[in-house]
Amino acid sequence: MGEDGVQLNSYLKTCMTKKEVDRARLSEILEQINLHAHRYYVLDDPIISDFEYDALYRELLELEERFPDMVADDSPSRRVGGPPLVQFATIEHRFPMLSLENAFNERELLDFEERLKRFLKLSHPIDYIAEPKLDGLAVELIYEHGVLVAGATRGDGNVGEDITDNLRTVATIPLRLSVANPPELLEVRGEVFMPFLGFRELNEQRAEEGESLFANPRNAAAGSLRQLDSRIAAMRPLDFCCYGVADPTSLSLQSQADTLAYLQKIGFTTNPHVKKCRDVQAIIEHYHYLVEIRHRLPYDIDGMVIKVDSLELQARLGAKARSPRWAVAMKFPAMQVTTKLEAVEFQVGRTGAVTPVALLAPVNLAGVVVQRATLHNEAEIRRKDLRVGDEVLVQRAGDVIPEVVKAISEKRKGDEREIIMPENCPCCGSFLLKAEGEAVLRCVNQSCAAQRVRAIIHYTGKAGLDIEGLGRRAVEHLFAENLIGNIADIYDLSLLDLAVLDGWGEKSAKNVLQAIQQSLTISLGKFIAALGIRYVGEVTAQLLEGHFGSLDNIMKAGEQDFLEIEGVGKQVASSLTAYFKNTQEREVIVKIREHGLTFTATANEDLVGNCAACVFLFTGTLTSLSRNEAKARVKEAGGRVASSMSKKVTHVVAGEKAGAKLKKAEEIGAMILSESEFTHMLSGE
Ligand code: IVH
Repeated sequence: MGEDGVQLNSYLKTCMTKKEVDRARLSEILEQINLHAHRYYVLDDPIISDFEYDALYRELLELEERFPDMVADDSPSRRVGGPPLVQFATIEHRFPMLSLENAFNERELLDFEERLKRFLKLSHPIDYIAEPKLDGLAVELIYEHGVLVAGATRGDGNVGEDITDNLRTVATIPLRLSVANPPELLEVRGEVFMPFLGFRELNEQRAEEGESLFANPRNAAAGSLRQLDSRIAAMRPLDFCCYGVADPTSLSLQSQADTLAYLQKIGFTTNPHVKKCRDVQAIIEHYHYLVEIRHRLPYDIDGMVIKVDSLELQARLGAKARSPRWAVAMKFPAMQVTTKLEAVEFQVGRTGAVTPVALLAPVNLAGVVVQRATLHNEAEIRRKDLRVGDEVLVQRAGDVIPEVVKAISEKRKGDEREIIMPENCPCCGSFLLKAEGEAVLRCVNQSCAAQRVRAIIHYTGKAGLDIEGLGRRAVEHLFAENLIGNIADIYDLSLLDLAVLDGWGEKSAKNVLQAIQQSLTISLGKFIAALGIRYVGEVTAQLLEGHFGSLDNIMKAGEQDFLEIEGVGKQVASSLTAYFKNTQEREVIVKIREHGLTFTATANEDLVGNCAACVFLFTGTLTSLSRNEAKARVKEAGGRVASSMSKKVTHVVAGEKAGAKLKKAEEIGAMILSESEFTHMLSGE
């Protein structure tokens, strides 16, 4: 569709009445919105920002309200989401999964309250609940007699996709409710999302492997839940937070606050930043609070949802075709903008990977000026067909590094230039290599200064030990002054070394030294993650801690030992082996230990279930639950699942027709459990 087709000819406009112009504008927007909705929901390739789309959508709703006879059959306002994918079975929602109307400012929030009061003929104040609006994928979980039997996406609001197997892999989704008398039927609703940390690790791994990257955590969550193979979904770091039930009246509760408390009690995660508000002023205050903390949250929220607290009032208010009358959403400022890609710089990372970085015309992105954004690797540049001089769409989500989503190719003038990858390391000049099957160019000179300084920045930074005062700039400064050359050197820094540096004084030097000392007491998982071993982020590091329990055990382990951990593949195992075999790396670790490294218990240990320290292996066919469910329940109870027999296996669950594995189990002394003994053990009785 060309621009000429959608812009009303100004000559025509002058011949029409205001009403005719509005009606024409309505069909014009409808066409545009349908195009953009298709690009967004179906093709996952929008050419306008969410903010611009929302503005169009709002204009459409306003016009449709004024001309109800003009609401077309194919109006997106009749639909609540994207169509279900054909490959999945479908599930019909007993109660439609509705969408939310938006309020864009305080005035519109007051209008919302006005409408409520008018509708209910109320004059007294109304209590509200204000909740963060999580940016993931809405799902419904169906529990019969307390057991999860099905789960679905929202789909078109009435019929969603049956993604039960994938949902079962999400650790925070209870497979069984922890309540003595569960309701016969309970449909729980909430959001599946991917926390930033897992998202970043997933994309880093995909970038290394040359796979296409997910544009944002929401897409990554949606893509993971739409996997037909639930084993893939199981490896994705998904999380779930619930915010309601389909039919709250069935629970004889009084309010949304009660509903959340009930859901929490029976085993669900609810959001901690939910607030009861007595009036619009309190709602606005909570909005500002959420805007303020948003950048520090480990997951993305894209707004706030305001709900009437009383379930009785909710029932009286009911719903319109698309959205309930008792709730409204307030979106946060847009996190996507367009700007010019002015040049490309190449940065050497801690593993030698050379990453292209876009230098952008400075642009304000929800309150932060952005001038640089990652381009990931050459394959991504080619896939997005980016060129220097392009107008590009840039996004920032929470603490995720800003990234270039795409070029607005429609805006090209013809003088844009191809991005050329370097042949030599921009730091040390060594020839760059691209290993077989890898997507990234790499500087293999281990003494390349850029790599060494990056490794220290990682160690002291947020993904590492998070030492206050030793951010990127400070580390670069100390490195340039030859005061540090590796991570162990930071523990040799003296007050004098630091206090005389430009911009430092005695006070900041003392503070940094104290923070460095404190960083020596840390959990094993965090320390391993801080080492910056290729492919080993916080998630894998935690697995290592759980499996080996001590640094000595990890340093003694061979590739085969690493491979025994569920969730550790060949690539990770060989990277770990290479790292811990390297004498230079070992010496650095020994040196840090000499400075008094002390490991603390991790938070995880507080959460251990009744299967902690158990490693299960399944053999034969299970009859009362699927293998996937059995695995998920083991994980939920704090245990691990092995894929093959080894000395680490502590329990073998023998289903029907259990084979040779049983004999082996006897040999290694693992406990053999029948299926019912196993389910009994899980329930902790
Ligand atoms: S209430 C009928 N509460 O926002 C009420 N929705 O447009 C609708 N969402 O995709 C749901 N956080 O999944 C509600 N605290 C929250 C929410 C929330 C995120 C999503 C929801 C849906 C969209 C509604």
